Amino acid sequence: MTEIRSPGIAAALGGWRQEPGPLVQALAAAFRDAVVDGRIPVGTRLPSERALAAALQVSRGTVVTALAALRDSGWLRTRHGSGSDIRLPPELTERTAPWSMDHGNSPGRPAGLNGPAVLDLTRAVTAAPHTAYLEASRRAVERSACLLMDSAEPDAGLPQLREALADRYTREGLPTRPDQILVTSGARAAFTLLADHLHERARPVLVESPTYQGALAVLRRRPARLTALPVTADGWDPDRLAHTVQTLRPGLAYLTPDFHNPTGALMSTALRNLVAELAVRGDMTVIADETLRDLDLRTAPEPLPHLAGRNVVSIGSTSKLVWGGLRVGWLRTDAARIRALLHNPLQARLSPPPLEQLIACELLADPRELRDDRRHRLRAQRDHLATLLDGSGEWSFILPGGGLSLWLRLHGTTATALAGRAACQGLKLSPGPAFSADRTLTHYLRLPYTATPDVLTRAVAILASATRRPQ
Ligand SMILES: Cc1ncc(COP(=O)(O)O)c(C=O)c1O
Repeated sequence: MTEIRSPGIAAALGGWRQEPGPLVQALAAAFRDAVVDGRIPVGTRLPSERALAAALQVSRGTVVTALAALRDSGWLRTRHGSGSDIRLPPELTERTAPWSMDHGNSPGRPAGLNGPAVLDLTRAVTAAPHTAYLEASRRAVERSACLLMDSAEPDAGLPQLREALADRYTREGLPTRPDQILVTSGARAAFTLLADHLHERARPVLVESPTYQGALAVLRRRPARLTALPVTADGWDPDRLAHTVQTLRPGLAYLTPDFHNPTGALMSTALRNLVAELAVRGDMTVIADETLRDLDLRTAPEPLPHLAGRNVVSIGSTSKLVWGGLRVGWLRTDAARIRALLHNPLQARLSPPPLEQLIACELLADPRELRDDRRHRLRAQRDHLATLLDGSGEWSFILPGGGLSLWLRLHGTTATALAGRAACQGLKLSPGPAFSADRTLTHYLRLPYTATPDVLTRAVAILASATRRPQ
């Protein structure tokens, strides 16, 4: 518990007296701003009301009323006889949607508290599980003493994390040793490293269409020829896949078998086996992105098989199960390739700091509660969004069994035109071409259901109005 002295509070609150409006409201707003800005840490014990009034040069009544307002809105907890502590209210900590999604776009500071109401549905991301994350960070710091004695040069990752990840694959039916795991700063980093290591210029790279735009961004930085394989929420066409592999002979394929971003498609076991077989026959390496694997939103989730085989490398991440700010991902391949990747000059730059890895260890030790909570909220938000969209002749969609977004097919307007009109009404959207190697998919829109139900309701109202009224 941090104690803060009265002059310290006065400095942390800054020039709140210049704000227009009643003093009480300005003081309460200044407290909230100072907390979200980090000038007053959460958990801080406030001085007495009398001391505060003296330091801020206001009446004691003003302080009492401002603190009461903060208490009522969840920013302050008062325990009889032991003072008042600064807290974050539940609506900030117990939400799946990042605060910036519906309160402006200031990542560091949710200043949207007073900022413009922009609804941002361009990113399919969730907020951190606040309490679990802070607890895990605290435990990780407590256990970091032995790390501090080591050189902590970037290498394949903390042994305990590699072991935990290898155990997880093994439990899921894919026997794995820790030396087959390389820890990276996220799945994007794993993909960047693999693309650098595996891409042969003479052969095309097979990507899904649509696909995760971050992977396209990595490939577009290389002189890579991209070959697109269509995917819908219904899935992949096995014949087309086989034909593409046999005729165009890609050297590398990037596939997302588990709740594909953006369609939510889930690859059948039969197709996984076919992919693994085609990869061996066609001398092609498949990078299977399993980042969305935990977000199984089916009513009765069944264990998912891995897309596995001699020519398959899996990549994964904590960013969807936990939080995008925890930059911990990994790749799984054979031990010889891991050793080779350690010689790649990119590897050290794409390796996460040891403390982040310890936090990941803490959170992955038993992720069931976290996973169930994520699934429960996302399922409710997905269903809410689907109900809002249902029945309109303007679009159609297939309810995805998992993942973070719904892939909407528009029947009239193009997605880019619609996104332009929606932006004028305060709704930011991602049109289909962002997810396409050749900038097609002009009649599709990705709608993430990572926002709260209230935001989704407002967003669909804007979407409907922007669809009806071309400007
Ligand atoms: C399929 C897929 N892979 C990778 C990522 C990014 O993962 P990370 O944040 O671990 O780099 C995303 C994020 O949206 C994704 O959808």
